[in-house]
Amino acid sequence: MGYKVVVAGATGNVGREMLNILAEREFPVDEIVALASRKSLGTEVSFGDKTLKTKDLDTFDFTGWDIALFAVGSDATKIYAPKAAAAGCVVIDNSSLYRYDPEIPLVVPEVNPEAVEQYKKRNIIANPNCSTAQMVVALKPLHDRAKIKRVVVSTYQSVSGAGKAGIDELWDQTKGMYVPGQEVAPKKFSKQIAFNVIPHIDVFLDSGETKEEWKMVAETKKILDKSIKVTATCVRVPVFVGHSEAINIEFEEFLDEDEARDILREAPGVMVVDKREPGGYITPIEAVGEYATYVSRIRQDSTIENGLNLWCVSDNLRKGAALNAVQIAETLGNRCLKKG
Ligand SMILES: NC(=O)c1ccc[n+]([C@@H]2O[C@H](COP(=O)([O-])OP(=O)(O)OC[C@H]3O[C@@H](n4cnc5c(N)ncnc54)[C@H](OP(=O)(O)O)[C@@H]3O)[C@@H](O)[C@H]2O)c1
Repeated sequence: MGYKVVVAGATGNVGREMLNILAEREFPVDEIVALASRKSLGTEVSFGDKTLKTKDLDTFDFTGWDIALFAVGSDATKIYAPKAAAAGCVVIDNSSLYRYDPEIPLVVPEVNPEAVEQYKKRNIIANPNCSTAQMVVALKPLHDRAKIKRVVVSTYQSVSGAGKAGIDELWDQTKGMYVPGQEVAPKKFSKQIAFNVIPHIDVFLDSGETKEEWKMVAETKKILDKSIKVTATCVRVPVFVGHSEAINIEFEEFLDEDEARDILREAPGVMVVDKREPGGYITPIEAVGEYATYVSRIRQDSTIENGLNLWCVSDNLRKGAALNAVQIAETLGNRCLKKG
């Protein structure tokens, strides 16, 4: 006895990972369907040792399906998520469309699992931005101990955060650097991404910050604590998968670096790798395909009264998107939704 599960966006980076993770974690599935756009009709995607042929989201009838994991971008979500929700299927959405809607819970199961229960208002649950998800997993146990006042974060975000087109652009541009006549001009990114870094993700706002930076502020407040001040600088780097973050935290109370390390070692979803020697820390390549949010370089910031610095790395397609969505489905199943 399990659930009837829909994966919308099954041909994309996040959708494929959602299918992998549902299978890996043996999510109780009675029936599963993979959906994408009409142009991908019949495209084969893997679900454990099975192969599914994708169907067209546009003509799909959600009646009788229990849970729909959406990873199709905001424009398509706007059309299809309300249809699914109205048909009685609970939508867990990866786009930013519903994240800031007060009637829709925004959930990271290690941080605010109880918020899942608010799904009943609209039959929709939002999944946070990839950079926010890993950051709040690391911040939550420290906040519980010493109350965070302010966070200053700089991100080093991989190109897979910009979808399939982002991965292709880094790959083709890098190859093109070595083959005269095959140079690839920037298209998905605003400047060359190969052998470069770009301090610009999503659109610019009137304040001068980018929407990606604003998302980290608004989402941390909604998920963790509205009193926490956050300032972010989000940067795209030529890494295929895995987002990294340099995080500076100011607490109300003093928190010793050794105690912080011990707290993080015990925290759900966190893996501490922190030896003060060459290689004694995590880099994004080592986080690929993993579930954990890794924390390294934990150290006192002696320039402020109660400060800590740390380095946080996670697989953006997993904890930053697909894994978190599946964990939300598991939480929903455990707390709210009857099987079968
Ligand atoms: N990548 C990340 O790190 C990350 C993290 C958090 C959240 N997200 C969010 O997750 C969503 C998907 O991201 P992604 O990286 O997986 O993108 P992607 O690799 O570009 O894949 C997009 C998927 O959406 C489908 N799709 C797009 N428009 C559609 C339409 N009108 N009708 C039906 N299907 C449609 C595509 O199907 P076709 O192949 O048929 O075009 C494809 O399966 C986005 O909202 C993104 O912001 C991504």
